[in-house]
Amino acid sequence: MLSYIIEGNSKIEGTVEASGSKNAALPIIATAILNPEPVTFYNIPDIEDTRITLQILKLLGCKVYADNGRISISSKDMHNKTIPKDLMHKLRSTVVLAGAILGRFKEATFSYPGGCNIGKRPIDLHLKAFKDLGVQIEEKEDYIHCSTKKEMIGAKIKLDFPSVGATENIILASVYCRGVTHILNAAKEPEIQDLAKCLNRMGAKVYGAGTSRITICGVKKLHKTDYRIMTDRIETGTLLCAAAITNGTIKIENTNPENLLNVLFKLKEMGCNILINKNSITLKAPKTLKRIDIETAPYPGFPTDMQPIISAVLTKAEGTSMIKENIFENRFKYALDLKKMGAKINLNEDKNIIEITGTSKLKGETVSSRDLRGGAALVLAGLSATGVTIVENAEYILRGYENLEEKLKKLGAKIKLEKVV
Ligand code: UD1
Repeated sequence: MLSYIIEGNSKIEGTVEASGSKNAALPIIATAILNPEPVTFYNIPDIEDTRITLQILKLLGCKVYADNGRISISSKDMHNKTIPKDLMHKLRSTVVLAGAILGRFKEATFSYPGGCNIGKRPIDLHLKAFKDLGVQIEEKEDYIHCSTKKEMIGAKIKLDFPSVGATENIILASVYCRGVTHILNAAKEPEIQDLAKCLNRMGAKVYGAGTSRITICGVKKLHKTDYRIMTDRIETGTLLCAAAITNGTIKIENTNPENLLNVLFKLKEMGCNILINKNSITLKAPKTLKRIDIETAPYPGFPTDMQPIISAVLTKAEGTSMIKENIFENRFKYALDLKKMGAKINLNEDKNIIEITGTSKLKGETVSSRDLRGGAALVLAGLSATGVTIVENAEYILRGYENLEEKLKKLGAKIKLEKVV
């Protein structure tokens, strides 16, 4: 088991660059399955989730060359259409590989994906959309087999909820469909816009990404492409919050403030001084943070992935803040650990709401990550606590943050990652 050991009372100060986006990298890597021509992606973060995804591509028969954020992939000789169950289970976004395999070969076998245990996270919307595209679905023991003997034909698909993964999966599965596919009530997240941009660079025809209606006109082939993926808006938000909770000042470069406006507005409402430029954000924390209320919502609303992170910061704000989680049913597991560190938190599980009454003091404790963003929230709490905080199960955090230890150290934190036996 890996743990972060954090000496508290830090002040986060300095300049740091944002990494490539985890949530954009995963579906964009899947485009390499769809496209038999060689592709090269830049700015892919070196994190556990991208490593596992690339491992799956290799097992499927793709050639993968990785070098310092630059990944070249050739799926010309790909032969295997089954995603191994053990790897499928390691993260949620493996499910979008299914849409890419299906789109390319009209056949894919996979199992239910894993990922952070933050709610039920079914894949019914994905499977229903595949059916709408004319695919037969057969569930046998642990595997789901999708196939069609005829060609896949574009369809009008209405999502009951603007699911990010389902929107990505439908786009991937319909790039080669005959005719036109319309996704209604599509997710509008920036990562979807990045996926569409990448596919269009390859020769696909995806229109309307970033709106709730996406149209995909089927094409016959894709071509060789280089693509640089967007930066990680949630990592940027996390680092801004690290400065906010420690009373510090941070400049994040190589980031896109446009993708994070809702979080920036909330940090401003808390009293932070924020300066944005085209590619950078500077945040200076106030002496005393103010309370706020937040409800998570699909983009452009407040992102659920930032909910645990901002909660950690609110343990330091004056007054009582209220946070309602509207996307996932079980995303407050970090609250127990924050309480152990001295935070005053009331959890109303029925309503999926927490109330956080700010206190100036958090104390170092041994706590445990239970999911990726909840784990990161505990690291931030540890930076501002008195004494030493040990955040166990750091593996969750390593799934989604590139070089977090190095970045925080550069900004003045006393943090190290240790293997604990
Ligand atoms: C993606 C992000 C994740 C983020 C989430 C919401 C990646 C790799 N992960 O996850 O970081 O927190 O979007 O912004 O990009 N749902 C169903 N049936 C389905 C699909 C989803 O009921 O078939 C529900 C989920 O249980 C959840 C909600 O829809 O309650 C949103 O899920 P979704 O947008 O699909 O999230 P992910 O794509 O899994």
